[in-house]
Amino acid sequence: MPRSINNPGGLQEQPKKEHTMKIADQIPKIIIAVLLLGGGAVVVSKVTGTSSGGGIVEVTVPELSQIAALGKEPFDTNCVQCHGPNGSGTDKGPPLVHKIYNPGHHDDGSFMRATKNGVQGHHWKYGNMPPQPQVNAVQIASIIKYIRELQMGNGIFYEQHRM
Ligand code: HEC
Repeated sequence: MPRSINNPGGLQEQPKKEHTMKIADQIPKIIIAVLLLGGGAVVVSKVTGTSSGGGIVEVTVPELSQIAALGKEPFDTNCVQCHGPNGSGTDKGPPLVHKIYNPGHHDDGSFMRATKNGVQGHHWKYGNMPPQPQVNAVQIASIIKYIRELQMGNGIFYEQHRM
């Protein structure tokens, strides 16, 4: 029989099958990897690029860390209406990407206090900031990271505060 001549004992069949199954096993992993990469690319493309108008200062968006990128969402929900796209400011609130908000003058605690208790306007003529109690601690932490990375991407770094 030709079959037994080409394949004595039929030994080849078994390993071939196993090989096919191994590739099949990898497919879900490959799909997950592709989805992760794709998702990452979407996040990057959403957060890079210059903020398009609306703000009172020009803000260039640097490449953001993952946590900073996470902060964009709660910022856009709770702060953007006054502090502007990417912290560039509006007629209702000051730009947070501004040297007076560098971490030496307004440390991370000032962001937490502002969100929790609101702010008595003092640096500008916008008036007071109302408290934003709906923003939780994790969201504030990511918002702070977001603003700090935007600041650094626009040349704003820690400066010792002198009274
Ligand atoms: C309704 C408008 C409005 C909203 C919403 C708002 N802010 Fe403000 N914010 C202001 C105004 C006005 C000031 C006061 C500016 C001044 O000092 O004159 C201010 C000040 C601040 C300051 C400076 C605090 C200080 O000690 O001087 C920080 C930090 C800040 N806001 C962060 C945030 C964050 C984070 C959010 C979102 C969770 C937010 N703001 C939402 C209007 C707003």
